[in-house]
Amino acid sequence: MKALSGAIRALAAAAAATAALPALAATPLPEAPHRVLDAMGPQAAHVVDLWRIFLVTCTAVTAAIVAALLYILWRRPRSGSDSTPDLTMVNRSEPGPRRHVTQAVAASVVLLLLLVAASVFTDRTLARMPLKDAVNIEVTAHQWWWTVRYRSGEVWQEFETANEIHVPVGRPVVIQLKADDVIHSLWVPNLAGKKDLLPGRTSIMQFRADQPGIYRGQCAEFCGYQHALMGLFVIAEPPEQFEAWQQAQRQAAAEPADAQAQRGKSLVESTSCAMCHAVQGTRAQARRAPDLTHLASRRTLAAGTLPNTPQALASWIADPQRHKPGTNMPTIPMSQDDLQAIVAYLGTLQ
Ligand code: CUA
Repeated sequence: MKALSGAIRALAAAAAATAALPALAATPLPEAPHRVLDAMGPQAAHVVDLWRIFLVTCTAVTAAIVAALLYILWRRPRSGSDSTPDLTMVNRSEPGPRRHVTQAVAASVVLLLLLVAASVFTDRTLARMPLKDAVNIEVTAHQWWWTVRYRSGEVWQEFETANEIHVPVGRPVVIQLKADDVIHSLWVPNLAGKKDLLPGRTSIMQFRADQPGIYRGQCAEFCGYQHALMGLFVIAEPPEQFEAWQQAQRQAAAEPADAQAQRGKSLVESTSCAMCHAVQGTRAQARRAPDLTHLASRRTLAAGTLPNTPQALASWIADPQRHKPGTNMPTIPMSQDDLQAIVAYLGTLQ
């Protein structure tokens, strides 16, 4: 009884806390296509071609089977409840049906072999796509977000971001895929097929975006409670714009100008934020959660869950479990003043 009333009190407190949060303005998430049939690069186009071959073949086979079934039903000899059973058919030799079954089995084997050959050829073609001058990226999947690290021969040129992959249009992209905890799968249907991210192994995904745009990606392997809220965006942009973006991302965070944001910065450095997050150029250097150095330049929060607006950011920090139950980000008790200062500081991280 005591436990029950305790639970009811806890629920009431949680409801009151949720009600006190500012209502989220209805800012929509970025419009981004997530369509297999709109191939925006050669790899995706090969996958669509293979899919079309399978669709046509399987439709034709299904239609033939249904037609044969309807024909058999139509020509079946009718018998009534009082007809005597015809037992001679048990041992009767039927060369006609036997021939048809043999032909159907042969046709099935040939068609299956053709589909296998089409898959193998597609796989070969994808493996042989030119990768000269490729952009090298390392994506690590976590429950439930993505680390995106831009690799370079020069270590000082490397940088990290989260839940957004920028790529230049027309240049091949090679992504090394890793997983931190369980199996995930990266799927950006407009650019490439699915690829699993496995703990303890590195797999490779390659694609090229031929059209500028924002393409939605999604984790495509059930990985726990918030699997559905594990999205990301691929932003394909002209090469000059991509270079400028890279330059900006390599910079450490700028020092905030106004007093409120400065207070936010020292809060981020001195409270539990710094135990998980990094902001380059500050004392926050942890690597357990998304790098926040250029948080304000990203389009969404919490791996495509919320639009990146000050209201959504405040609401997310105040109660992450409300937006993404089960996420590793804890609810940290803080005053409204502190919350607003932190939001102001994070807003300066362009
Ligand atoms: Cu990660 Cu599903």
